Amino acid sequence: MTGLGDQNRPRLIVDCDPGQDDAVALVVAGHYGELIGITTVGGNAPLADVTRNALLTCQLFGLDVPVYVGQARPLEAEPLHAPEIHGASGFDGPSLPELTKEPEATHAVEYLIETVRSEEGLWLIPIGPATNIATALRRAPDLADRLAGISFMGGSALGGNRTAAAEFNALADPEALAVVLECGAEIRMCGLDLTSQLVVDDALVADIRALTGTEAGRPVNPGAGVVADLFTSYLDRVEAIGGRRIGGLHDPCAVLAATHPELFDMVERPVGVELRGALTRGMTVVDTRFRRSALDTGIPWDDAGVFHPVRHCARLDAGEVRRLVVNALDELGSHARA
Ligand code: RIB
Ligand code: CA
Repeated sequence: MTGLGDQNRPRLIVDCDPGQDDAVALVVAGHYGELIGITTVGGNAPLADVTRNALLTCQLFGLDVPVYVGQARPLEAEPLHAPEIHGASGFDGPSLPELTKEPEATHAVEYLIETVRSEEGLWLIPIGPATNIATALRRAPDLADRLAGISFMGGSALGGNRTAAAEFNALADPEALAVVLECGAEIRMCGLDLTSQLVVDDALVADIRALTGTEAGRPVNPGAGVVADLFTSYLDRVEAIGGRRIGGLHDPCAVLAATHPELFDMVERPVGVELRGALTRGMTVVDTRFRRSALDTGIPWDDAGVFHPVRHCARLDAGEVRRLVVNALDELGSHARA
């Protein structure tokens, strides 16, 4: 069986740590791909919180997709969270419905190994620390050859957000990202240099809030209302930190790089992740000196074996990507009954 579902929609497994941008990524994946499974990983908030948030997102948007709980801790680092961005719960801001959806009993890593071994051509979409994916690849290196690819949100070619050098997902588990980069599958990288081109601002919040309403006394698209409240709360925190109500809509980019690659400028370049630097641990180094042709001609670009060919997504069609995101929230949310 190939990884192409109905109408040639790629079959996806999203590995996430919701967070508001993860929630939108799940909706985008459910609308434009065949989202066959969701795995959760400790990241923006502790594992129990991000798992609850993933389950709530499925409820709010009618995503009938199994959720598998993964690793609470990185491969080697201490757990790192982002309450300053997502709030302590990972979903601070909106009032949320009662949780009714349950996670599956199978551990996320076992699910990943079993599922990729049973079906060729799947896309893995890690949008949090890459701990689950790396753990599965370490236990089953054969998975890499069976995948259509790994499209991840993480790293950056132009400086970090959690430190001056490192982006949050990469810094939270740099050892895991190194495992992913060297695994041999096709890797598509959506780093901050790309995802900052897809802007979260009050205009986007207004467009999303406009998807909600009431019909015959019943709320229409309550999920969009929750996303609008999550984004408003996010912008309030970002404004308190940096003085501006603007942020990047990071995680949906990794999904769309798999479902709509035509909207992205991708260049295969050597990429590595720093594991030891006192100032630079978790920094991703994107060697923009080379293009694929150079990689093939034996130029000595990697003496230490720490750089790996990665499809670096450098540019995106922001207008079309923004339209696709709002459309997915509208289409899925308006048919859901939370
Ligand atoms: O740096 C942005 C990334 O960190 C996103 O995946 C966001 O959800 C957080 O996990
Ligand atoms: Ca995330």
